[in-house]
Amino acid sequence: TDQEMTARIREIKRQFGDALFIPGHHYQKDEVIQFADATGDSLQLAQVSAKQKASTIIFCGVHFMAETADILSADDQQVILPDLRAGCSMADMANDQQTDAAWQELQNIFADTIIPLTYVNSTASIKAFVGRNGGATVTSSNSKKMVGWALEQKQRLLFLPDQHLGRNTAFDLGIPLDQMAVWDPIKRKLEYDGDYQRIKVILWKGQCSVHENFTVKNIEQIRENHPQMQIIVHPECRHEVVQKSDKAGSTKYIIETIEKAESGTEWAIGTEMNLVNRIRKVHPDKKIISLNPYMCPCLTMNRIDLPHLLWVMEELEQGTVCNEIKVEKTIANDAKMALDRMLQLS
Ligand code: 13P
Ligand code: SF4
Repeated sequence: TDQEMTARIREIKRQFGDALFIPGHHYQKDEVIQFADATGDSLQLAQVSAKQKASTIIFCGVHFMAETADILSADDQQVILPDLRAGCSMADMANDQQTDAAWQELQNIFADTIIPLTYVNSTASIKAFVGRNGGATVTSSNSKKMVGWALEQKQRLLFLPDQHLGRNTAFDLGIPLDQMAVWDPIKRKLEYDGDYQRIKVILWKGQCSVHENFTVKNIEQIRENHPQMQIIVHPECRHEVVQKSDKAGSTKYIIETIEKAESGTEWAIGTEMNLVNRIRKVHPDKKIISLNPYMCPCLTMNRIDLPHLLWVMEELEQGTVCNEIKVEKTIANDAKMALDRMLQLS
């Protein structure tokens, strides 16, 4: 039963004490979050992982986050992902062959006037590509700062793999939409009408399959049925959705905004279901709903559950390390350059 599993996990966690550290992303299920030593958004979890002394980190999040924890932790620390199927559809939208092809073509067009940036929601090898080419990683909490930094280095940038975060951030910095192009990795083509020299931002054609489900129609329905309700969304949502919302920001920003809001206020939130449900539970004095009535869970985040967590912990108790995430050394070194450039600026 869930109760038995919970009790066992608690017991094993107690045995390991400080030797075991469990970070949990805000989108994780409550049944998992209850065991987290630290909860946070991608940036916070990258920062706490970098400081960890525990010999074992069981990462409750998705694959790219566990890779980041491995890259930032010491060589003798091991990182475990309770279910290897916990990937991220967005991270999978950019692979090595695609970025190599894109970079070659973009160098042909723009020569040395372009710098790559990647959202942390990307594989270690994409981060390595970015690190090797002088660029940095970005999270939803620091994207404005990082895009600003990139444009101090070079005339234009390539933003991987989330076109929406890239577009929303660049727009906030005053870059007009007609100075943004889209790189289609499948067609290997730059989508842009006009003089290429005007382009400042090239957006990789990738997106989050969860945040994509919040639509302008959802917003119109809220405006009509609940005119007093405020709408707050994550910048992984489409540009039109962000523009029509009242507020937009990272997971951390959404949590803090609701915390600071007055009792009795009403909010429709455009982000992952587990987080929306948790915010609702923590603030019974406010009316909180999902912007999309179908709620929008992240299916891969949800793969981490009690049975998987218990399984890796029982194996650990027996001295077996299951599902270890180990990034190959040369990739890890290059990826670390990209992560360090971000962490120094954050
Ligand atoms: P943040 O935690 O940076 O807000 O990112 C959201 C997300 O989609 C994580 O997978
Ligand atoms: Fe990936 Fe989106 Fe899920 Fe985050 S919410 S892990 S970006 S699919």
